Amino acid sequence: MKDTDFTYNIVTYGCQMNEKDSSTMAAMLDQIGGRESSRDDAQLLIFNTCCVREHAEDKVFGNVGALKKQLSERPNLIIGVCGCMMQQKGVAEKFMKKFPFVNFVMGTHNMHQLPQIVLQVVKYGERVCAVWDSEGEIIEELPLRTGKISSYVNIMFGCDNYCTYCIVPYVRGHERSRSKDAIIREVQALSESGTKEIILLGQNVNSYQGGDDRFADLLYSLNEIPGIDRIRFMTSHPKDISLALMNAMKDCDHVCKQLHLPVQSGSNEILRRMNRRYTAEIYREKVMELRQLIPDIALTTDIIVGFPGETSDDFQQTLDLVNDIRFVTGYFFKYSPRPGTPAAKFENQIDEDIKQERLATLLKLQDGITNEYNRSLIGKTLHVMPEKTADRHAGQIIGRSDGGRTVHFLGSSDLLGSTVPVTITDVTGNTLLGVIRN
Ligand code: 5AD
Ligand code: SF4
Repeated sequence: MKDTDFTYNIVTYGCQMNEKDSSTMAAMLDQIGGRESSRDDAQLLIFNTCCVREHAEDKVFGNVGALKKQLSERPNLIIGVCGCMMQQKGVAEKFMKKFPFVNFVMGTHNMHQLPQIVLQVVKYGERVCAVWDSEGEIIEELPLRTGKISSYVNIMFGCDNYCTYCIVPYVRGHERSRSKDAIIREVQALSESGTKEIILLGQNVNSYQGGDDRFADLLYSLNEIPGIDRIRFMTSHPKDISLALMNAMKDCDHVCKQLHLPVQSGSNEILRRMNRRYTAEIYREKVMELRQLIPDIALTTDIIVGFPGETSDDFQQTLDLVNDIRFVTGYFFKYSPRPGTPAAKFENQIDEDIKQERLATLLKLQDGITNEYNRSLIGKTLHVMPEKTADRHAGQIIGRSDGGRTVHFLGSSDLLGSTVPVTITDVTGNTLLGVIRN
């Protein structure tokens, strides 16, 4: 593999933040002569890992371990492992030992060093372990992947909330916000390259630059950037969502009427022990306020079942909340103890079979609600931005509605990136089918 001409593939696990990091890494590799190719024939394979739940970690161990067999057929393959899992204390060293064929590991705080690390490995044949203990300053000069219809934009990094179950503050560092000017410049550049939708990313966007409605102010400014038709953002912490933000969502015509607002549990006792700093009543009130301002807002949520000490009564309160609020959809997880977090040491850890049973009950309840919601859209006309053509159905294109629902409909690829009125005709599973309204 020459340093000026090589193929690479990045395998991404976990959240949107990781997807965005992978796209930044791809842009950095392109700058030093890399070309993206498939996982099976790339000369450089990078695993961008997640450690938010044990399941995500197991997948990385399995997939990296499986590469050992392939090395006889691909002796020159270079393997790198990066991301949140590598940033955990002691994990990178353990990983290097366990997998001697891995050429480099890199922490989340070192991502900007990727080109240098790749050259070190390729030119000098070194094995590199680059993991900084703590975050540095935000690095603004990293290259951008441009030209996509929908692009992620980081507005802040890290998290200071320390929910007791969560590993993120330990692997992503303290909360740091980018300057408004830097964000605006980036969005302008994306718009000039053809991007139509931006998705603003942060662990808790409502505390952007320390809160104080700075995020609402940012939305008003981004709403004015020519060529950007849609603005989405995630994630919002219920304790910090303000009336100013709700008003900004209502006022800004390009801000999608969709909000991901993780509730995590419907029980005040569990919320207290999770260190979420709101009650179920406060959450319900905020949702009511929001719906008064924006009646058709599409709300989604995250919930953890089987948090230590969760009784059947606590769980029932979660079911009641889900039943009352009627989220459009939800992401539900079995609690997974993360080493080094407070909750991992709490008493009364819940048995796996109870977690599984609660997860199944919650999924079933939500499935019914999602289905009912989807069906309520039949006959309505939604504004859909098609992003790709369907692989399996010739002539079909796929896009998302303002509220974030996936919609399939017959249309030409010329429509990609535009906003099309589509009348919903049917629902299959989680997908809406529609026809363009003439
Ligand atoms: N176990 C299970 N789910 C978790 N999440 C975060 N940490 C854990 C954990 N230890 C979930 C939360 C969060 C989402 C991104 O992942 O619901 O909102
Ligand atoms: Fe984790 Fe809580 Fe921070 Fe979200 S707000 S990243 S759940 S600590």
